Amino acid sequence: MKAPDIRNTFLKFFEERGHAIIPSAPVVPQHDPTVLFTTAGMHPLVPYLLGEPHPAGKLLADVQKCVRTSDIDEVGDLTHLTFFEMLGNWSLGDYFKEDAIAWSWELLTSKDKGFGLDPDKLAVSCFKGDDDAPKDEEAAKLWEAQGVPKERIFFYGKDDNWWGPAGEAGPCGPDTEIFYWIGEGKPELKPGPAEDDQRWVEIWNNVFMQYEKTAGGTFEPLAQKNVDTGMGLERLAVILQGKKDIYETDLFSPVVDKIRKLSNVNEPDERAERIIADHLKAATFMIADGVRPSNTDQGYILRRLIRRAVRQARLLKIEYPFSESVAETVVSEFKDAYPELDREAKTIREELLKEEEKFSRTLEKGLRYLQELVQKNGQKITGLDAHHLFETYGFPLELSLEEIFKDSEKENSKTFEKEFQKAKKEHQEKSRAGSKQKFTGGLADHSEKVVRQHTATHLLLAALRDVLGDHVKQRGSNITAERLRFDFSHPEKLTDEQRNQVEALVNEWIREDLPVTRKEMPLAEAERIGAQMEFGHKYPDTVSVYFVGDPAEARSIEFCGGPHVERTGEIGTFKLKKQESVGAGVRRIKAVVE
Ligand code: ALA
Repeated sequence: MKAPDIRNTFLKFFEERGHAIIPSAPVVPQHDPTVLFTTAGMHPLVPYLLGEPHPAGKLLADVQKCVRTSDIDEVGDLTHLTFFEMLGNWSLGDYFKEDAIAWSWELLTSKDKGFGLDPDKLAVSCFKGDDDAPKDEEAAKLWEAQGVPKERIFFYGKDDNWWGPAGEAGPCGPDTEIFYWIGEGKPELKPGPAEDDQRWVEIWNNVFMQYEKTAGGTFEPLAQKNVDTGMGLERLAVILQGKKDIYETDLFSPVVDKIRKLSNVNEPDERAERIIADHLKAATFMIADGVRPSNTDQGYILRRLIRRAVRQARLLKIEYPFSESVAETVVSEFKDAYPELDREAKTIREELLKEEEKFSRTLEKGLRYLQELVQKNGQKITGLDAHHLFETYGFPLELSLEEIFKDSEKENSKTFEKEFQKAKKEHQEKSRAGSKQKFTGGLADHSEKVVRQHTATHLLLAALRDVLGDHVKQRGSNITAERLRFDFSHPEKLTDEQRNQVEALVNEWIREDLPVTRKEMPLAEAERIGAQMEFGHKYPDTVSVYFVGDPAEARSIEFCGGPHVERTGEIGTFKLKKQESVGAGVRRIKAVVE
């Protein structure tokens, strides 16, 4: 059964039983700023599970787009996914355990109305009870009534058979899970389906939401008892299509085929293919729902997914740019079920291309630096060098390892990696200690106002250099709570237009809410990356450098001891008040932030 048929069979089955079919909500929660992504079908329905009437009624069914990011590092194996689709049916204070269990069984086993799974290969689990709630004997009896033999009904505790917002307050309750045997021969009942036996696959979860966990940690009965179910489309597809894993199903194989076509290696690297397929599929859906690559929140996850995909593409020697063509396959495979993909196809392509381009530049710069080092030092490159690369360009350690070590030298790479980790740890400790240190250079005090104006001063220098040219250097700065004063080299008065441009640029960077980060590095390295320093000032061998914006594309890089705001959004509005001359070739600007 193809994926579109699975979705339709599910929705039609519940529609015939009085459920309204509702469209998937976006992957970014619309009313809940506490989580980044929609992680389950019930998530967009929380207000209705708590009693608010749903405009479509009390019985609902849908296929919800979900994103789970906690296991990103595991993606590449055969089971973990970032993006998946969850089939769900809901009763908002209408039917409860009896109908839910009877319908689950019918849908799974019926040959003409459902999926026709072999009943002998199914097992279920129910809640075994604890101090908060009793054993769910009722659910077990209802399974027996469907013909499930007692020995295939298991009982587990809260870890396995309870559902609710993790550790938080909210609607929750015992659940019953349905497992399918994918092993050889007759199903084996020991150690049990939820005991790490990979041959039993959990396919569907029916949650009987009958409690509300209060902020105080107690469990109060819900006025309205609900049913919340979730079935993983990808897992069901594996079973119904008789495949070995999710990547062989039609939910992935066209995307994997596309990646394989683009790759230029003799031996396919399946792990890399899977990572690219998963990450770019997730990225495509995220962009269609309005997420854009950035350094915060959802945008940061999106950026990470795209960058990881680009990195894996290098292993497959895929030519740049490639992500948009993989996304095209995702769009054409999924647009019937999710028309927003088609509507946003152009934006999806543009955003992917932009981010791929940016990251490729970072990689190139890092690689060039590494090659220079190799030429200079031969085999003597250390984990410390890799750490500089990582800190300066965001150049990943694995890439350094790959570039430097061949398979036969894996042992050496371990020492290298240890050096890297040690340098990273030392660096973190130093930064932590450093940020506690107090510096006064040019600052009246460390009040919040002075700190905001201090970061604004860095932006001012960067903006002056952008507008007037690279000859602009800092000649002095003095900051009080009332104003910032900044002296710089420039031969003439700024025109009104230049003044306005500088002011607008600083305010633009403030609006971008860029992260401000501090790094310690050797003086020579800081000079090499073009960190701005005060003219005539003597600096030690190891210096502290502040970056405004992602270090790979920082707006400002300056030698500085801080302190600074954490993000430019904290600065406020920058206003350029006055300019004057303070001697030949040196100008002074006074400005405030409000
Ligand atoms: N909300 C339940 C789950 O995600 C159905 O497993």
